[in-house]
Amino acid sequence: MTNELDSIVDSARQAFAGAATPAQLEDAKARFTGKAGRLTELMKGMAALSVEDKKSRGAAINQAKQAIEEALSARRRALADAELEAQLHAESLDVTLPGRMREPGGLHPVSRTMERIEQIFASMGFDVADGPEIESDWHSFTSLNNPPNHPARSMQDTFYVDLNGDDGIPYNLRPHTSPMQVRYAHAHIKKHRDAAEIPEIRVIAPGRTYRVDSDATHSPMFHQCEGLWLGRNVSFKDLKVVFTNFCRTFFESDDLALRFRPSFFPFTEPSAEIDIQFQSGPLAGRWLEVAGAGQVHPTVVRNMGLDPERYIGFAFGMGPDRLTMLRYGVNDLRLFFDGDIRFLRQFR
Ligand code: DAH
Repeated sequence: MTNELDSIVDSARQAFAGAATPAQLEDAKARFTGKAGRLTELMKGMAALSVEDKKSRGAAINQAKQAIEEALSARRRALADAELEAQLHAESLDVTLPGRMREPGGLHPVSRTMERIEQIFASMGFDVADGPEIESDWHSFTSLNNPPNHPARSMQDTFYVDLNGDDGIPYNLRPHTSPMQVRYAHAHIKKHRDAAEIPEIRVIAPGRTYRVDSDATHSPMFHQCEGLWLGRNVSFKDLKVVFTNFCRTFFESDDLALRFRPSFFPFTEPSAEIDIQFQSGPLAGRWLEVAGAGQVHPTVVRNMGLDPERYIGFAFGMGPDRLTMLRYGVNDLRLFFDGDIRFLRQFR
């Protein structure tokens, strides 16, 4: 009997030692102390014994059971230790590796320019307005004294959207921010409809614009910033003061020269192209075109809903992409829109 129990304990120890995983170990345990385990069978066999025998035999079986349970928990611990050891080994941490940095983000150079433009004009009392990029033909062209079939439209040949406006003419991706002149004026008049007199308009409207154009200095999507100052006695002189002030502040250069070169736009009369000239630096001496401008055409003022005899002033449209290229010395416009992180990182 004792021998039998000893051999059961022995084989339990062997089975446990042979279990390579916790699952195998639990299987092995079931074979000895489980419901149909060998030890459990022996216990059942005790029913027929005398009280005396039951006592001694029960004690022996209990001893064997204890030995098995000790072996079991020792093996459980060993397996858990081994598992932890393997895990630690697999997940080994090399504290000498460089950290995975999360790089700080930065504003796109054109966004920086936009913010700068807004700040400078805000300091001169200009409101900043925003408008739709999908624009009606009337706002983009007709309201700006650029009637259907007029050859001046071809200066801004653009993208059309497959959707007709009220006039039956397709919407377009706005080729310039100039439609914002009329949009803003309408909103301005509505806002002040109860006033004895509509106050003057002083606003800039920066945003995205679109044209069928693509080379090193033209992108089909680009940026413009419109400016409009309409009031009682706003003159070309004011345009010169405002724009000169803007350019000198923007480029942080007091000796920047400006030139107003006669030009043509349907929405202004007279019209000018504004060139700037740096007196020092790599671009010194060259005249660089930065904006179109002029006195707002009476037809445009009328389309705004204002009386051109009473409201007079100027408008301008400039290219923030161009200003950004000049300020940072970038020679290819496409770099702004390629999304190359090596380029953009330099402006962080
Ligand atoms: N809209 C013109 C363009 O895209 C630029 C421009 C010229 C805007 C003269 C104006 C202006 O407001 O007065 O070429």
